[in-house]
Amino acid sequence: MKSIQKMVLHGGTGQIGKAIINYYRNKVQEIIVFTRGVSRNENNVHFLNWNGKSLNQYKDLLEDTDVIINLVGKNVNCRYTEANKKEIFDSRTDSIIALSEVFQKLNNPPKIWIQSASATIYRHSEDKPMTEINSEIGEGFSVEVCKKWEATFNSETIQFPTLRKVILRTSIVMSKNDGAFPRLKTMTKYGLGGKQGNGLQMVSWIHDEDVIGIIDFIIQNDSINGVINCTAPTPLTNIDFMKSLRKSMGIKIGLPASKLLLEIGALFIGTETELILKSRWVIPERLNKLGYQFKYPTIEKAFKNLTN
Ligand SMILES: NC(=O)c1ccc[n+]([C@@H]2O[C@H](COP(=O)([O-])OP(=O)(O)OC[C@H]3O[C@@H](n4cnc5c(N)ncnc54)[C@H](OP(=O)(O)O)[C@@H]3O)[C@@H](O)[C@H]2O)c1
Repeated sequence: MKSIQKMVLHGGTGQIGKAIINYYRNKVQEIIVFTRGVSRNENNVHFLNWNGKSLNQYKDLLEDTDVIINLVGKNVNCRYTEANKKEIFDSRTDSIIALSEVFQKLNNPPKIWIQSASATIYRHSEDKPMTEINSEIGEGFSVEVCKKWEATFNSETIQFPTLRKVILRTSIVMSKNDGAFPRLKTMTKYGLGGKQGNGLQMVSWIHDEDVIGIIDFIIQNDSINGVINCTAPTPLTNIDFMKSLRKSMGIKIGLPASKLLLEIGALFIGTETELILKSRWVIPERLNKLGYQFKYPTIEKAFKNLTN
């Protein structure tokens, strides 16, 4: 078991970052979290304010980092106005460039850089699954974001001879109290947990404990680099996904939401229907081949845990 002394989380105050901190805070010596919020210490977790552009002032603190996990990104759960679109792009690329700039000044740059990315990079697919090798990249705004995000990470400016770089193409992360799941649970509780749109779109999802499990698996396995589909092995249709949620909550009625109704609702709550209606059929082929054992391989198992 590889021991980690220093872990750096860039954008570690969100849904995934909080889960990572909870898991690692007693396992590593020091966690540094960069945030636009106030600097503060919580035992061995040090939150440090950054201005969204440069991390140069923290150069000395970043020496000898074992693992850096970059989670920065304006949440895509918003209307795609021009201003939001710019922030969605810029937050992702600026954070990579800022890390890269400061790492180039270090005597001992990090050994592993895990970069968050999204399974949305693949095309809308109802006809076949997408793996890391056999897949087709989609088109449209969110795909362009993913392409630029990964291209920035892969660019020449951040090649260090000792650095292992991994891109996590992550599907919808299911957490008990954060992200998409609590909203789905509330809707279902009030009888609105039916199919969304025609319900035939595939839902790729992952339990947050498996996101952590996969990060740990990557840290422990020196041979892993490049793109990893960070998603459970059993995607399913939206109809079956919602059916399974209703069952696990003991709710009999689930009114469906038509595309039109979703479009009106999205306008009111300030989001985009693409997040629900795009068919994401993504398989974690590399993790399966590498032997990662999912703690929650099926939605039934995940919902049983999340609804309790
Ligand atoms: N959760 C999911 O279902 C999911 C699925 C696929 C991919 N991902 C990706 O995984 C990463 C982490 O996800 P998450 O759900 O934990 O995200 P999150 O809860 O939205 O948190 C992302 C972090 O990014 C920072 N941030 C937000 N807007 C920013 C901006 N304009 N400039 C600089 N920093 C900004 C925030 O840190 P501060 O406010 O502390 O500065 C925040 O803690 C994101 O890149 C996301 O796109 C998430």
